[in-house]
Amino acid sequence: MKFFIDTANLDQIKEAQDMGILDGVTTNPSLMAKEGITGTDNIMKHYVNICKIVDGDVSAEVISTDFDGMVREGEALAELHDQIVIKLPMIKDGVKACKYFSDRGIKTNVTLVFSPGQALLAAKAGATYVSPFIGRLDDISTDGLNLIAEIRHIYDNYAYETQILAASVRHTMHVIDCAKLGADVMTGPLSSITGLLKHPLTDIGLEKFLADYKKGN
Ligand code: E4P
Repeated sequence: MKFFIDTANLDQIKEAQDMGILDGVTTNPSLMAKEGITGTDNIMKHYVNICKIVDGDVSAEVISTDFDGMVREGEALAELHDQIVIKLPMIKDGVKACKYFSDRGIKTNVTLVFSPGQALLAAKAGATYVSPFIGRLDDISTDGLNLIAEIRHIYDNYAYETQILAASVRHTMHVIDCAKLGADVMTGPLSSITGLLKHPLTDIGLEKFLADYKKGN
């Protein structure tokens, strides 16, 4: 399973990249605003800065909601760097724009996906990635992980190549469960990745190994 980090924070992206386990980055307008990155020029520059840190795909979201606007924005974003993936909302014009970009060999990520039917449409439009938001489903007492399982089942039935990018991952158990269900990618905060390191027996064991080494030296 690929690990993407869901942030626009350059320090956190560097930290994950330095661990050697980072495969890409996802961003959205809210994550940009959280870092104080505003205005089209600054946002575009920030995407380039992110691409310089990470080796893999970097999702950059359009803010237009009509086909022409999405194409215009998406083409400008794709020009920025060859790692840029155009992130499009799951609405009718978003699906149409997804088909437009996939026909031209430009990578896409269809976002704000909350149902198997939406994921089916994204695959039919040739999306590179589909982003089901599991945490936001959990927030409304609906099993987000079940959506990953349903999409996996449907995509496997037809050998769709669209990669399931489990998004809105909030914690380490989401990461483990996504891996068990066969998500191709997960994107979450740095804590959902570094949290995987933790086990008290690792700490206790290491402490003892080091103490025993000191006894003999
Ligand atoms: C996905 O690409 C989104 O940026 C993200 O995962 C949303 O996560 P949230 O529900 O924690 O805001």
